[in-house]
Amino acid sequence: VINLSNECSLVCDWISEIRDVQIQTDRMRFRRNLERIGEIAAYEISRHLAYEEKEVQTPLGIAPTKVLKEQPVLATILRAGLPLHQGLLNYFDKADNAFISAYRKHNLDGSFEISLDYISCPELENRVVIISDPMLATGSSLVKTIQYLREEGHPREIHVVAAIACTVGIEYVQRSEPNVKIWCAAIDEELTAKGYIVPGLGDAGDLAFG
Ligand code: PRP
Repeated sequence: VINLSNECSLVCDWISEIRDVQIQTDRMRFRRNLERIGEIAAYEISRHLAYEEKEVQTPLGIAPTKVLKEQPVLATILRAGLPLHQGLLNYFDKADNAFISAYRKHNLDGSFEISLDYISCPELENRVVIISDPMLATGSSLVKTIQYLREEGHPREIHVVAAIACTVGIEYVQRSEPNVKIWCAAIDEELTAKGYIVPGLGDAGDLAFG
């Protein structure tokens, strides 16, 4: 797991703002901060992808350049994933996109299962997939999503981008999907019995969209 705020940077400021009850009420700032975290994650992930050489004609001559060898697929989990996904898409601006709706379906005894409903997904065969969801709590939504994407095609490489990840959830994803690389902007230790991250930030979907 790679924590994007291990070294102090502006990411720490954005995490501070999205956690802060006095600031997170500003929905536009909340969404934009998630988007900015997505942008930084995109840049960091881009440093691990493959590039190919390309000669381009400038007004004054030929320049040897390097360009991304293949476009990744940006997949996000609705609805809270949208701002983070937008940030990734701002940088991977030619990427293909996948949208997955996963939500917690609560049973009468308080337990819940993850239900996958709407899914729109491009060809995944041998591709790099970057899945975004701001909160990695129990990890169930992610594992279910990854399993679905693996059935749908055979991605070569899977990255997960989260704003706040919980240790238990990280461990669950790593146990279930050992080859997936997790990028997050903060790691919290506690998960409540109901599956909420503490201190976390609250409900990211509600804070972003009401
Ligand atoms: C939240 C969050 C994740 C999920 C994390 O979504 O955005 O998708 O819970 O929990 P997990 O790691 O335990 O699976 P929620 O179900 O609240 O839906 P929303 O995005 O529509 O608000």
